[in-house]
Amino acid sequence: MNAPEPLLSVRDLRVDVGERNVLKSISLDVAAGSLVVLMGANGSGKSTLGLTLAGHPRYTVVGGSVRFGGRDLLALKPHERARAGLFVSFQAPPDVPGVKNNLFLRTALNAVREARGEPPLDAYDFLGIARSEAARLGLPDALLNRAVNDGFSGGERKRNELLQLALLQPRLAVLDEIDSGLDVDGVRTVVEFVQRQRERGTAFFVVSHYLQLIESLAPDAVLRLHEGCIAESGGIELARSIARHGFAASDTSRARVALAA
Ligand SMILES: Nc1ncnc2c1ncn2[C@@H]1O[C@H](COP(=O)(O)OP(=O)(O)OP(=O)(O)O)[C@@H](O)[C@H]1O
Ligand SMILES: [Mg+2]
Repeated sequence: MNAPEPLLSVRDLRVDVGERNVLKSISLDVAAGSLVVLMGANGSGKSTLGLTLAGHPRYTVVGGSVRFGGRDLLALKPHERARAGLFVSFQAPPDVPGVKNNLFLRTALNAVREARGEPPLDAYDFLGIARSEAARLGLPDALLNRAVNDGFSGGERKRNELLQLALLQPRLAVLDEIDSGLDVDGVRTVVEFVQRQRERGTAFFVVSHYLQLIESLAPDAVLRLHEGCIAESGGIELARSIARHGFAASDTSRARVALAA
């Protein structure tokens, strides 16, 4: 029997940012319901990969393919990708002055619900759900009434990203350094949150530099991005080795292996 097609399948993806070729050849899979961690030195292209998947116009795909849920992801517009069940969090969530958080969230949720064939939520029902999810994430109710991320602290922005995810119930969530800027309770909240969402069937692609978070998430696979390619893949032991020896040591040992071959 053939293995089922992965939820996300990236093949030989090449991406330019401005004049620069940042991603040279990325190939990876994320199976439905699984959790994959992506590590890599600062500037190696992790956020570039996430934002390319989201369809950010700054990133130009110059080669390769991406399939998501059996469809050609690269042929879809950013909002169609979201409606197809892809969620990508920002490493530095921007503010959107003038757009109220609760209206933004309800509009996004109702668009995704429509794509799933579900009826829209009215303001009253939406607020009930949004408030209870916000409370679980330690976000004060008042932040629902403010403009999106406007004046939010760093940690509040990260929690607001998770609130969007909790409401949208995507098939795949890409979390870009969701732990940075969160206090200790916030990191614990992320781990519990991810576990809960996984039980509801969401797969995760998590970018992180921190072994403690990665260990707590119990990933199915760990990948290392280096010079625009997936240089190594493994299990939690790869994350432990990177945490212990650093990326530079890892590159040196790889070079030695290559020389010896
Ligand atoms: N507009 C741009 N023009 C030229 N280079 C860019 C542009 N935007 C990003 N880059 C470069 O692309 C490279 C990859 O950046 P990216 O943000 O994807 O790295 P990252 O792996 O997420 O790093 P970090 O761990 O610091 O978040 C960096 O060298 C960055 O300077
Ligand atoms: Mg980044």
